[in-house]
Parts: sequence; C-alpha cells; structure tokens
Amino acid sequence: EDDVYKYYSDGEWKKSSSGKAVSIVNPTTRKTQYKVQACTQEEVNKVMESAKSAQKAWAKTPLWKRAELLHKAAAILKEHKAPIAECLVKEIAKPAKDAVTEVVRSGDLVSYCAEEGVRILGEGKFLVSDSFPGNERTKYCLSSKIPLGVILAIPPFNYPVNLAVSKIGPALIAGNSLVLKPPTQGAVSCLHMVYCFHLAGFPKGLISCVTGKGSEIGDFLTMHPGVNCISFTGGDTGIAISKKAGMIPLQMELGGKDACIVLEDADLDLVAANVIKGGFSYSGQRCTAVKVILAMESIADALVEKVNAKVAKLTVGPPEDNCDITPVVSESSANFIEGLVMDAKQKGATFCQEYRREGNLIWPVLLDNVRPDMRIAWEEPFGPVLPVIRINSVEEGIHHCNASNFGLQGCIFTRDINKAILISDAMETGTVQINSAPARGPDHFPFQGLRDSGIGSQGITNSINMMTKIKSTVINLP
Ligand code: G3P
Repeated sequence: EDDVYKYYSDGEWKKSSSGKAVSIVNPTTRKTQYKVQACTQEEVNKVMESAKSAQKAWAKTPLWKRAELLHKAAAILKEHKAPIAECLVKEIAKPAKDAVTEVVRSGDLVSYCAEEGVRILGEGKFLVSDSFPGNERTKYCLSSKIPLGVILAIPPFNYPVNLAVSKIGPALIAGNSLVLKPPTQGAVSCLHMVYCFHLAGFPKGLISCVTGKGSEIGDFLTMHPGVNCISFTGGDTGIAISKKAGMIPLQMELGGKDACIVLEDADLDLVAANVIKGGFSYSGQRCTAVKVILAMESIADALVEKVNAKVAKLTVGPPEDNCDITPVVSESSANFIEGLVMDAKQKGATFCQEYRREGNLIWPVLLDNVRPDMRIAWEEPFGPVLPVIRINSVEEGIHHCNASNFGLQGCIFTRDINKAILISDAMETGTVQINSAPARGPDHFPFQGLRDSGIGSQGITNSINMMTKIKSTVINLP
C-alpha cells in the first residue's frame, strides 16, 4: 500500500480514503510500473473548496510576486529534469532524450508565462464616453483583466508535464487557482512536476492534483459547480466534456489529421526530413504529427523512395535506449493502430515496409497508394503509420484536407511562396506551416484547431487572455 503515490490537496500529500489504487502499466514491459490513488468524489469536493478560497487570496497577491514564484517553480522544475524524465520513460515510453527536452521546455514555458503575464496583465484600458452618439464626456471607463477563478486542467498522456504546465503557467500568473487531473499514464510525472510547484512555496490549495479513474471522477470534475474554466487536451472525450460542461469558458485541443501537401517544385530532401520528424517522432503520438502525405503524382515515386530510405534508418526499441520508435502507450492503442493497418491492407494499399508488431511496439510503416475509402485516409492512428495519397492537382489536396473532421494544422512544401500563401488561405486548419512539419511550438505562438480539433486558441499569450475576464469600473461625472 505504501508504494501508491499520494495525491496533492490543500498543500499536502494524501492517501485517498477509497483505499483503492489505479495501476500504471509500463508500455515497454507491459507490467505495472506505478500506482496512484483512486480519489473519491468527496476528495474532489475538498480540493474544489480549497482551490476556491486559495484563489481569492492569490488574486490579491501582487502580479510581480506571482511572477517571482512562477520563475522559482520553473527553476526547480529544470533541476528535477532527470527524475521527471525517468518517469516519462517508464510511464509513456517517451525516448529518454525527448523526455528531458519535455521537462526543460516546460520550465521555459513557465518562465515565459511569468514574463508575458506581467506585461499583458499590467496594462488596462481607459475609455471616454463622448465617442458614442448622444453622450457627453461624462463617463470614464477603466477596464482591466481579472482572473476567472478555479481552472480545471486535463492534459493528455503524450505530454503529461508540458501540456499540464501550458495550462498551469497561464492560469496562475493570471491569478487563478488550478486543479489538475493528470492522465493515468503520465500521472506520476505530473505528481513530480506538481511537487516542484510545492517546493517553490505556492500557497496551499492553489494547486492540487487529483488522480483516479475517469469513470469515477471524470464527469464529476468537469461538471463540478466549483470549476470556472476547463482547459483540456486529448481525444474525443473533449467533445463529450464540451457537451456536458456548464456556462464556462472552454479551451480544447483534440487531435488532428495534419496533411502534408507536396507540390512538384518542392525540395524533396527537405520534405523527407520533415516527414520523418513530423510523422514518426514519439512514434507518431502527437496531435500535430504529419498524418497524411498528399503528394503530386509526378514527384510521388521520388518522394516515397527518399522517405523509405530514412524509415530504414529509424531505430526501433525501448525508450531507455533512445530509440526513435518506442512502444505505443497501451495495448488497446496498438490494437487500434493495427486495425487501421489491416483495413488498408485489405483495401489494397502498398506496404513500403512489412508490418511488424511485438507487444506494444510497432515498426514504422509507410503506406503508399492510399485511397479515400481506407480508414487510414481519415482516422488518426496515433502510431508510427503514415499514409501517402497521390494527388493530381493542388485542389484535390486542399479538398482532402478540408473534408477532414479535424482541422488542427497542415503543411505545404513548395519553392513558390505565392502559391504557398494561396494554398494556406484555402486550407481550413488552425495553422499552416510552409516548408516545415506541423508543430505547436515555439510555445508563445498561437495554437488552435478548427472543427473537431478544438475550441479557442492556445499559446502562452492566448491562454493567459483566455483565463481572464474583463472587468470595468465606470466613473460618472456630474
Ligand atoms: O499532441 C500534443 C500537441 O500539442 C503537439 O505538440 O509540440 O509535438 O507539436 P508538439
């Protein structure tokens, strides 16, 4: 029982009264690696209460002091990069080097939030009345940004630390309190990250971290009357949450099917390098991964050959060895990926590599001649499987991209910048990258998706603004 990690509530590490634990299975060994508390609804209520009262005091804490604490937390987080990265390796099979990068990037993100926050929250607006018809200059309006209250943050397994702090940093600098519900896989990494905030000395109750089964506390958390805003990153669950949530601001990022459109004049070596990085880093388990290549028929053979040469060089194995391709997060995920691959096989896709799987480890595979009747043309595998659809016109590519339920990012490879801009304008996605693979970072850039890819916009500045509300005071002169 003592090997169950405690959850964090009211500034203390606690055992759940449920007496139950949730097991975290290591994707590589497929054995239980860690256990976390299965928190109860009562414990969620307690966390909400302390989050509410801590927030009131925090909102009155001077902005520069809030920034100071965030800088401190960022530094501590970076000092703890090795043990946190080790958790990421064991819980989500992230290659060791990438795991360290995730933690360092998270520290930088928190510091940037502190800096950006003091700038944008340090400014308000002053308006006078006589610009609107019928008014004299007798009303002065002072407006500034105030916090929303309690923010519920739900990050996904693929960046448990980074996508938690991308919510925590903006929330705290803006004067909110924060309740974190980590993904089961990634929960211990999250608890360790929260421990860094604990060490920085934030007031008790301001940050809490409740672990447990989504089926027991998921809806209870997202529908809790104490929650004033939800920031969620993940899959379809986000759509369900948005339907059930109350009248509160939502920030959602729910995956994508990012297309890579390759024109005849593209630098094919550049494309191949970006397709490998974009399609196969962290074994394709990124919402911004390249998930379909739309290549002009005339250059498709040459491109496929170049990509294949690079696929052959990818190392496959355990995350501890820094392999490029590591086991996908769970057996059910591996089964889902396999389902997409088998569907494509049955419908006649060309396999550039033989399909191979051992446990949760799936060897990288490029599927050529994919057609729109195959599931892989539309669905998100979240694994090292990349389809190529050959197109005969740019319009065909744009059409495929816009017909998707997702609209996160997309990319275009061409040497003709005018063409690239026109195609970018025609692509209905939150971001279009010209001559590079899709990516969320740098983390102060706006990040958003259309359609089923999300609600609202993220990125440091947008998140800080989203987690505040305008408050005005009007001075009425006689
Ligand atoms: O899958 C999460 C999404 O936010 C991707 O982030 O940094 O891999 O582009 P990144």
